[in-house]
Amino acid sequence: MNSSPIASSQTGIHEHLATLVAKHAATPFRKPVADYNRRAFEQSVAAWCKAGSAPLILDTGCGVGLSTLNLAAQHPDHFVIGIDQSEDRLTRNTQWNGPEPDNLCFIRADLVDYWRLLLDAGIFPARQYLLYPNPWPKTAHLARRWHGHAVFPAIVALGGAIECRSNWRIYIEEFASALTQLSGQQTSCEAYATDAPITPFERKYLASGHALWRCRVALLAQRAFAG
Ligand SMILES: C[S@@+](CC[C@H](N)C(=O)[O-])C[C@H]1O[C@@H](n2cnc3c(N)ncnc32)[C@H](O)[C@@H]1O
Repeated sequence: MNSSPIASSQTGIHEHLATLVAKHAATPFRKPVADYNRRAFEQSVAAWCKAGSAPLILDTGCGVGLSTLNLAAQHPDHFVIGIDQSEDRLTRNTQWNGPEPDNLCFIRADLVDYWRLLLDAGIFPARQYLLYPNPWPKTAHLARRWHGHAVFPAIVALGGAIECRSNWRIYIEEFASALTQLSGQQTSCEAYATDAPITPFERKYLASGHALWRCRVALLAQRAFAG
Protein backbone atom coordinates (compact mmCIF):
# COMPACT_ATOMS: atom_id res chain seq x y z
CA MET A 1 0.00 0.00 0.00
CA ASN A 2 1.28 3.45 -0.95
CA SER A 3 2.23 5.75 1.89
CA SER A 4 1.76 9.54 1.74
CA PRO A 5 4.75 11.81 2.22
CA ILE A 6 4.95 13.62 5.56
CA ALA A 7 2.87 16.80 5.60
CA SER A 8 3.92 19.51 8.03
CA SER A 9 3.70 23.27 8.31
CA GLN A 10 7.31 23.19 9.50
CA THR A 11 9.77 24.18 6.77
CA GLY A 12 12.99 23.73 8.73
CA ILE A 13 14.39 22.97 12.17
CA HIS A 14 11.92 24.01 14.88
CA GLU A 15 12.74 27.45 16.24
CA HIS A 16 12.50 26.23 19.85
CA LEU A 17 14.56 23.05 19.43
CA ALA A 18 17.87 24.33 20.81
CA THR A 19 16.19 25.92 23.84
CA LEU A 20 14.21 22.77 24.58
CA VAL A 21 17.28 20.52 24.26
CA ALA A 22 19.28 22.82 26.55
CA LYS A 23 16.45 22.83 29.09
CA HIS A 24 16.28 19.04 29.12
CA ALA A 25 20.06 18.77 29.47
CA ALA A 26 20.00 21.11 32.46
CA THR A 27 17.01 19.57 34.23
CA PRO A 28 17.09 16.06 35.76
CA PHE A 29 14.30 13.91 34.31
CA ARG A 30 12.62 12.43 37.37
CA LYS A 31 9.56 10.66 35.98
CA PRO A 32 9.24 7.44 38.06
CA VAL A 33 10.08 4.20 36.29
CA ALA A 34 7.11 1.85 35.90
CA ASP A 35 7.45 -1.61 37.44
CA TYR A 36 6.65 -3.39 34.16
CA ASN A 37 9.51 -1.55 32.46
CA ARG A 38 11.92 -2.48 35.26
CA ARG A 39 10.90 -6.14 34.95
CA ALA A 40 11.25 -6.01 31.15
CA PHE A 41 14.65 -4.37 31.51
CA GLU A 42 15.84 -7.07 33.93
CA GLN A 43 14.61 -9.83 31.63
CA SER A 44 16.46 -8.37 28.66
CA VAL A 45 19.68 -7.92 30.63
CA ALA A 46 19.40 -11.53 31.86
CA ALA A 47 18.98 -12.74 28.26
CA TRP A 48 22.00 -10.69 27.19
CA CYS A 49 24.16 -12.02 30.05
CA LYS A 50 23.05 -15.62 29.40
CA ALA A 51 24.16 -15.21 25.79
CA GLY A 52 27.63 -14.09 26.90
CA SER A 53 27.33 -10.29 27.23
CA ALA A 54 28.54 -9.58 23.70
CA PRO A 55 28.67 -5.91 22.63
CA LEU A 56 25.13 -4.65 22.70
CA ILE A 57 22.96 -3.20 19.93
CA LEU A 58 19.66 -1.48 20.75
CA ASP A 59 16.93 -1.54 18.12
CA THR A 60 14.61 1.03 19.68
CA GLY A 61 10.99 1.16 18.51
CA CYS A 62 11.62 -2.09 16.63
CA GLY A 63 7.94 -2.63 15.71
CA VAL A 64 7.50 -6.17 14.43
CA GLY A 65 11.24 -6.79 14.92
CA LEU A 66 12.33 -7.35 11.32
CA SER A 67 15.17 -4.86 11.79
CA THR A 68 16.20 -6.63 15.02
CA LEU A 69 16.53 -9.90 13.07
CA ASN A 70 18.41 -8.15 10.26
CA LEU A 71 20.78 -6.40 12.67
CA ALA A 72 21.43 -9.66 14.53
CA ALA A 73 22.25 -11.40 11.24
CA GLN A 74 24.49 -8.52 10.14
CA HIS A 75 26.32 -8.41 13.51
CA PRO A 76 26.73 -12.03 14.65
CA ASP A 77 29.33 -10.98 17.25
CA HIS A 78 26.84 -8.60 18.93
CA PHE A 79 23.66 -9.13 20.94
CA VAL A 80 20.63 -7.16 19.75
CA ILE A 81 17.75 -6.08 22.00
CA GLY A 82 14.62 -5.09 20.08
CA ILE A 83 12.41 -2.85 22.20
CA ASP A 84 8.88 -1.74 21.45
CA GLN A 85 5.94 -0.64 23.57
CA SER A 86 3.45 -2.52 21.42
CA GLU A 87 2.87 -6.18 22.34
CA ASP A 88 0.72 -6.44 19.24
CA ARG A 89 3.55 -5.39 16.92
CA LEU A 90 6.12 -7.54 18.69
CA THR A 91 4.02 -10.66 18.18
CA ARG A 92 3.12 -10.01 14.55
CA ASN A 93 4.66 -11.81 11.58
CA THR A 94 7.99 -10.26 10.65
CA GLN A 95 8.21 -11.79 7.15
CA TRP A 96 11.63 -13.14 8.05
CA ASN A 97 12.72 -16.00 5.80
CA GLY A 98 14.90 -18.81 7.08
CA PRO A 99 16.25 -19.68 10.51
CA GLU A 100 16.23 -16.86 13.02
CA PRO A 101 19.52 -15.72 14.55
CA ASP A 102 19.72 -16.37 18.29
CA ASN A 103 21.88 -13.39 19.29
CA LEU A 104 18.84 -11.27 20.07
CA CYS A 105 15.84 -10.82 22.31
CA PHE A 106 12.64 -8.82 22.10
CA ILE A 107 11.21 -6.87 24.96
CA ARG A 108 8.02 -4.94 25.49
CA ALA A 109 8.85 -1.71 27.30
CA ASP A 110 8.45 2.03 27.17
CA LEU A 111 11.74 3.44 25.92
CA VAL A 112 11.35 6.52 28.09
CA ASP A 113 12.07 4.25 31.06
CA TYR A 114 14.22 1.66 29.30
CA TRP A 115 16.95 4.09 28.19
CA ARG A 116 17.20 5.53 31.73
CA LEU A 117 17.36 2.07 33.30
CA LEU A 118 20.29 1.18 31.04
CA LEU A 119 22.07 4.37 31.97
CA ASP A 120 21.45 3.89 35.69
CA ALA A 121 22.85 0.35 35.41
CA GLY A 122 25.93 1.60 33.55
CA ILE A 123 25.18 -0.54 30.50
CA PHE A 124 26.52 1.24 27.43
CA PRO A 125 25.50 -0.11 24.00
CA ALA A 126 27.96 -0.37 21.14
CA ARG A 127 25.23 0.77 18.74
CA GLN A 128 21.82 2.38 18.99
CA TYR A 129 19.32 2.37 16.12
CA LEU A 130 16.22 4.58 15.97
CA LEU A 131 14.65 3.45 12.71
CA TYR A 132 11.68 5.46 11.45
CA PRO A 133 10.45 6.79 14.79
CA ASN A 134 6.97 8.31 14.84
CA PRO A 135 7.62 11.73 13.23
CA TRP A 136 5.07 13.82 15.13
CA PRO A 137 5.09 16.36 12.26
CA LYS A 138 2.81 18.96 13.82
CA THR A 139 4.83 21.97 14.94
CA ALA A 140 3.23 21.78 18.39
CA HIS A 141 4.47 18.19 18.79
CA LEU A 142 8.18 18.96 18.97
CA ALA A 143 8.43 17.56 22.51
CA ARG A 144 7.10 14.18 21.32
CA ARG A 145 9.96 13.70 18.84
CA TRP A 146 12.83 11.84 20.51
CA HIS A 147 15.26 14.79 20.22
CA GLY A 148 12.63 17.10 21.79
CA HIS A 149 11.82 14.66 24.59
CA ALA A 150 13.16 14.93 28.13
CA VAL A 151 14.76 11.48 27.71
CA PHE A 152 17.04 12.66 24.87
CA PRO A 153 20.03 13.49 27.13
CA ALA A 154 19.95 9.87 28.35
CA ILE A 155 20.11 8.57 24.76
CA VAL A 156 23.17 10.73 24.09
CA ALA A 157 24.78 9.80 27.41
CA LEU A 158 24.47 6.08 26.56
CA GLY A 159 26.74 6.74 23.60
CA GLY A 160 27.87 4.23 21.01
CA ALA A 161 27.36 4.46 17.28
CA ILE A 162 23.93 6.02 16.95
CA GLU A 163 21.86 5.98 13.78
CA CYS A 164 18.43 7.49 13.20
CA ARG A 165 16.51 7.12 9.91
CA SER A 166 13.31 8.78 8.72
CA ASN A 167 11.42 9.68 5.57
CA TRP A 168 10.98 13.20 6.99
CA ARG A 169 14.12 15.22 6.34
CA ILE A 170 13.33 17.77 9.06
CA TYR A 171 13.17 15.02 11.70
CA ILE A 172 16.72 13.98 10.87
CA GLU A 173 17.99 17.57 10.59
CA GLU A 174 16.59 18.24 14.06
CA PHE A 175 17.93 14.96 15.46
CA ALA A 176 21.41 15.73 14.09
CA SER A 177 21.29 19.29 15.40
CA ALA A 178 20.24 18.15 18.89
CA LEU A 179 22.93 15.43 18.89
CA THR A 180 25.60 17.95 17.95
CA GLN A 181 24.35 20.35 20.61
CA LEU A 182 24.59 17.80 23.42
CA SER A 183 27.57 15.74 22.35
CA GLY A 184 29.77 18.46 20.87
CA GLN A 185 30.39 16.07 17.97
CA GLN A 186 29.54 17.29 14.49
CA THR A 187 26.65 15.33 12.97
CA SER A 188 24.58 16.00 9.90
CA CYS A 189 21.60 14.79 7.91
CA GLU A 190 22.45 12.71 4.84
CA ALA A 191 20.38 11.13 2.10
CA TYR A 192 20.06 7.37 2.51
CA ALA A 193 19.48 4.92 -0.32
CA THR A 194 19.27 1.14 -0.18
CA ASP A 195 18.05 -1.79 -2.25
CA ALA A 196 17.76 -3.90 0.87
CA PRO A 197 15.31 -2.35 3.35
CA ILE A 198 15.65 -3.79 6.85
CA THR A 199 12.35 -2.64 8.34
CA PRO A 200 8.73 -2.75 7.15
CA PHE A 201 8.51 1.05 7.24
CA GLU A 202 11.72 1.40 5.24
CA ARG A 203 10.33 -1.04 2.68
CA LYS A 204 6.98 0.76 2.53
CA TYR A 205 8.55 4.20 2.09
CA LEU A 206 10.89 2.97 -0.65
CA ALA A 207 7.99 1.30 -2.46
CA SER A 208 6.11 4.63 -2.27
CA GLY A 209 9.03 6.54 -3.80
CA HIS A 210 9.92 8.53 -0.66
CA ALA A 211 13.41 9.88 -0.10
CA LEU A 212 15.06 8.50 3.04
CA TRP A 213 17.30 10.40 5.45
CA ARG A 214 19.61 9.41 8.22
CA CYS A 215 22.19 10.73 10.63
CA ARG A 216 24.98 8.69 12.13
CA VAL A 217 27.65 9.46 14.66
CA ALA A 218 29.99 7.43 16.85
CA LEU A 219 29.33 8.96 20.25
CA LEU A 220 31.64 8.76 23.18
CA ALA A 221 29.73 7.52 26.25
CA GLN A 222 29.36 10.32 28.77
CA ARG A 223 29.64 8.14 31.83
CA ALA A 224 29.52 11.00 34.30
CA PHE A 225 25.97 11.83 33.20
CA ALA A 226 23.74 12.40 36.20
CA GLY A 227 20.36 13.23 34.57
C1 LIG B 1 6.74 4.16 12.92
S1 LIG B 1 6.98 2.71 13.82
C2 LIG B 1 8.53 2.09 13.17
C3 LIG B 1 8.73 0.63 13.47
C4 LIG B 1 10.02 0.03 12.91
N1 LIG B 1 11.21 0.66 13.47
C5 LIG B 1 10.06 0.09 11.41
O1 LIG B 1 10.85 0.89 10.87
O2 LIG B 1 9.33 -0.68 10.77
C6 LIG B 1 7.49 3.36 15.40
C7 LIG B 1 7.53 2.30 16.51
O3 LIG B 1 7.98 2.92 17.71
C8 LIG B 1 7.27 2.35 18.79
N2 LIG B 1 7.31 3.31 19.91
C9 LIG B 1 6.87 4.59 19.90
N3 LIG B 1 7.04 5.15 21.11
C10 LIG B 1 7.60 4.21 21.90
C11 LIG B 1 8.02 4.17 23.26
N4 LIG B 1 7.86 5.22 24.06
N5 LIG B 1 8.55 3.03 23.74
C12 LIG B 1 8.70 1.94 22.95
N6 LIG B 1 8.32 1.91 21.65
C13 LIG B 1 7.79 3.02 21.14
C14 LIG B 1 5.87 2.11 18.24
O4 LIG B 1 5.15 1.14 18.99
C15 LIG B 1 6.19 1.66 16.82
O5 LIG B 1 6.29 0.26 16.72
